Amino acid sequence: MKLLVTGGAGFIGSTYVRRRLAERPDDEIVVLDKLTYAGRRENLAAAPESQIELVEADIADREAVARAIDGCGAVVNFAAESHVDRSIAEPDAFIQTDVFGTFVLLEAARDAGIRHLQISTDEVYGSIEEGSFTESSPIEPSSPYSASKAGGDLLVGAFQRTYGADALIVRASNNYGPFQHPEKLIPLMVLNAMAGDRLPVYGDGMQVRNWLFTEDFASAIDVVLERGEAGEVYNVGGPEELPNIEVVRRILELTGRDESLIDHVTDRLGHDRRYSLSAERTEGLGWRAQVHFDEGIERTVAWYRDNRDWWEPIRSGEYREYYERQYGTKLGS
Ligand code: NAD
Ligand code: DAU
Repeated sequence: MKLLVTGGAGFIGSTYVRRRLAERPDDEIVVLDKLTYAGRRENLAAAPESQIELVEADIADREAVARAIDGCGAVVNFAAESHVDRSIAEPDAFIQTDVFGTFVLLEAARDAGIRHLQISTDEVYGSIEEGSFTESSPIEPSSPYSASKAGGDLLVGAFQRTYGADALIVRASNNYGPFQHPEKLIPLMVLNAMAGDRLPVYGDGMQVRNWLFTEDFASAIDVVLERGEAGEVYNVGGPEELPNIEVVRRILELTGRDESLIDHVTDRLGHDRRYSLSAERTEGLGWRAQVHFDEGIERTVAWYRDNRDWWEPIRSGEYREYYERQYGTKLGS
């Protein structure tokens, strides 16, 4: 099988590629990635060269996509602008990639007559106070990020219903694990705690997220790719729900720091209070999460401790300016 994996140089995409190639030595993967600030060649260094081709291109570039898809049996689309805070400050790239880029890929997969698996998010459902979202919950996105992901999802459904395209969606809860960009909550807190820097907790820190170890999500994607039905949505929720402040406390314990590092800063605009996803339908296909938060967070903190070479260049580049813009005036000294 030859797969087209878009956004395969990012956090979840590269985890998926490394895992799939390690398990299937006869597979080939074409990774098409724009290599934005979030995509890195180094993330794919462990994948065997004979099995992987990296094409640096935009999913919205029709010609590049048509060339890359040639001979592939399916597309798995991870490519997206993925950070909520950046979408609040500058939404344009989110609409372009997450909506228009998804449309270009759907057309290419339809022309090639192959399956399109869209990687989506629980954020399209909005916030839930009690209970858990199922696949039939209404779409009520809060941020420009989640609205653009919802736009991509709606196009997937439309392509399946209108053209009979073999297209389907997985929606995951918050992923964490090695290789996640330091802009996201867990790596940001781990790296700041290790350095003895302030920990910017938005608002009261009681927002709840449903944590999913990224290797577990990667395994769910193959299950859905192989056994999922066209036109369907499959939710992949993690085994634990935790308020952000609890996550930060766990990180403080693991890094040997105390709570004096915590700064409660101005809340995120339109901040969703709680996400909770029922994974029942995906479990019905034979998938189960294997890694609980206690184990996953230990492995994650250990990985960042041992892989300074991976994150140091990120923290000193574009991220520095982003960090100043995002937190500079919020944080105490
Ligand atoms: P990420 O930001 O780490 O990676 C995104 C990748 O897409 C990068 O390699 C980037 O270079 C690439 N990319 C961006 N724009 C592109 C374009 N126009 N053309 C080609 N490549 C482009 O994101 P992630 O956390 O790995 O998320 C991957 C996917 O999973 C996204 O679609 C995201 O919405 C979804 N998702 C993420 C989470 C999470 O917790 N991280 C949870 C649910 C769903
Ligand atoms: O739920 C799935 C989504 O999870 C994915 O679709 C997104 O791509 C991914 O980025 C993630 O979105 P979140 O907004 O939930 O993740 P983030 O790491 O940005 O924030 C997690 C929580 O932590 C959220 O409630 C905001 C809070 N937070 C985040 C940062 C970066 C803070 O309190 N302080 C921070 O500095």
